[in-house]
Amino acid sequence: MGSSKFLPFLQLVLCSLLLGISNGQSIVPVVPGLSYTFYDSNCPGLEIIVRSHLWEVFNNNITQAAGLLRLHFHDCFVQGCDGSVLLDGSTSGPSEQDAPPNLTLRAAAFTIIDDLRALVHNACGPIVSCADIVALAARESVFLPNGPYYQIPLGRRDSVNFATRPVTLANLPPPTFNTTSLINAFAAKNLTTTDLVALSGGHTIGRGHCASFANRLYPTQDSTLDQTFANNLKLTCPTNTTDNSTNLDIRSPNLFDNKYFVDLMNRQGLFTSDQDLYTDSRTRNIVTSFAVNQSLFFEKFVDGMLKMGQLGVLTGTQGEIRTNCSATNVNNINIDLASVVRDHQEQEMLSQY
Ligand code: HEM
Ligand SMILES: *[C@@H]1O[C@H](CO)[C@@H](O)[C@H](O)[C@H]1NC(C)=O
Ligand SMILES: *[C@@H]1O[C@H](CO)[C@@H](O)[C@H](O)[C@H]1NC(C)=O
Ligand SMILES: *[C@@H]1O[C@H](CO)[C@@H](O)[C@H](O)[C@H]1NC(C)=O
Ligand SMILES: *[C@@H]1O[C@H](CO)[C@@H](O)[C@H](O)[C@H]1NC(C)=O
Ligand SMILES: *[C@@H]1O[C@H](CO)[C@@H](O)[C@H](O)[C@H]1NC(C)=O
Ligand SMILES: *[C@@H]1O[C@H](CO)[C@@H](O)[C@H](O)[C@H]1NC(C)=O
Ligand SMILES: *[C@@H]1O[C@H](CO)[C@@H](O)[C@H](O)[C@H]1NC(C)=O
Ligand SMILES: *[C@@H]1O[C@H](CO)[C@@H](O)[C@H](O)[C@H]1NC(C)=O
Repeated sequence: MGSSKFLPFLQLVLCSLLLGISNGQSIVPVVPGLSYTFYDSNCPGLEIIVRSHLWEVFNNNITQAAGLLRLHFHDCFVQGCDGSVLLDGSTSGPSEQDAPPNLTLRAAAFTIIDDLRALVHNACGPIVSCADIVALAARESVFLPNGPYYQIPLGRRDSVNFATRPVTLANLPPPTFNTTSLINAFAAKNLTTTDLVALSGGHTIGRGHCASFANRLYPTQDSTLDQTFANNLKLTCPTNTTDNSTNLDIRSPNLFDNKYFVDLMNRQGLFTSDQDLYTDSRTRNIVTSFAVNQSLFFEKFVDGMLKMGQLGVLTGTQGEIRTNCSATNVNNINIDLASVVRDHQEQEMLSQY
């Protein structure tokens, strides 16, 4: 701990100065209904409340940052950044058996978001959406592990429904996708090839389960895998059904930096969707440019996050401000805690996506 605890705040001050000088926000347009000053008058403490709580959470366990960053990606890609990912499926929708493979999202991430919501609503009243809290938490999950700081437009509203299983599956690219399929999936969200490569750099933190990359080991080994790296993956995942996990970025798994791209250049990307970005001639030069220039990666990553973070948002009087991030207001009945825990454990176990 010691002085390293103060690093994030020091970095914030420095970054704020830089932002002030260069007015360094990106040129990504703000969609109608969102704004950089949305809560300035009625919840001025919002960003500090979120940052200081997450600072504590991450000091205790930095790996939680990855869970929160991924949550925002999944929220935004399915039905827009509307907090739908947080809704507990079994309360109003499909049976547990039908529940989408909602991911290897971390159970802890859901708890952290609702803890943040409680802190924010205690301070300001129930005026800040869960979708905005997820977006803010994702920003801190980039910034606190040493990544870039950037301001985000706020004013998202929460959905009153969640996506069906087919819609969820159709919108979240699986780790077995090649670059062609990834470019198409991102283009469907108006995201460019550069956005795709930059946002894939989110895999500079966090972990993946065997099921997400076993296709590269069994029955035959992917020829683009570095041999030593492959041997280690086989130790982690001795069979195609082992339930185990490993870091996405072998060089600096808990730092938000450009080492993910260095991994790709060394054939140490974990998923097909990662490594193929270096194999494919359309994206290879972008990977290299980020591997040799971290500032460039940060700049393009921020652009990508601002675009992704505004996908399909509800604004104005659309949707609602949930008073419990796991349930729509009408379904917010505090009855069956055990089933929530069980659902989240199941989400943890479903490791295909
Ligand atoms: C390009 C398409 C993408 C694919 C195919 C993909 C796929 C995956 C998969 C399969 C996992 C691991 C799940 C598991 O086995 O536990 C994962 C983890 C993760 N993804 Fe992605 N992802 C993509 C894009 C993104 C984006 C855009 C972000 C954020 C900017 C992101 C952030 C993360 C993070 C932080 C983790 C680690 C989560 C944790 O440790 O709990 N991913 N991704
Ligand atoms: C952090 O949390 C994850 C699961 O949420 C756990 O597997 C890991 O052991 C924890 N790490 C530390 C250092 O406490
Ligand atoms: C699964 O997650 C997506 C967003 O990631 C969300 O839109 C969808 O409603 C979720 N489905 C269930 C049943 O939780
Ligand atoms: C990428 O995947 C698609 C769908 O599986 C396939 O049709 C295509 O041939 C692949 N492209 C390359 C370059 O491997
Ligand atoms: C992409 O942009 C077009 C044209 O501006 C717009 O109609 C469409 O809704 C956008 N798609 C998404 C997923 O935001
Ligand atoms: C899980 O992976 C670790 C190394 O990452 C390895 O030591 C351990 O044996 C693996 N567990 C199983 C059940 O294979
Ligand atoms: C694992 O490998 C066996 C034997 O090759 C195969 O029959 C099975 O379908 C595979 N399972 C998975 C989950 O890939
Ligand atoms: C790295 O990228 C930054 C940001 O785009 C740019 O200003 C800088 O000139 C680049 N540095 C080199 C050595 O190319
Ligand atoms: C939030 O909603 C979930 C899902 O309906 C419910 O199980 C939980 O008890 C609620 N939490 C609180 C604090 O009311």
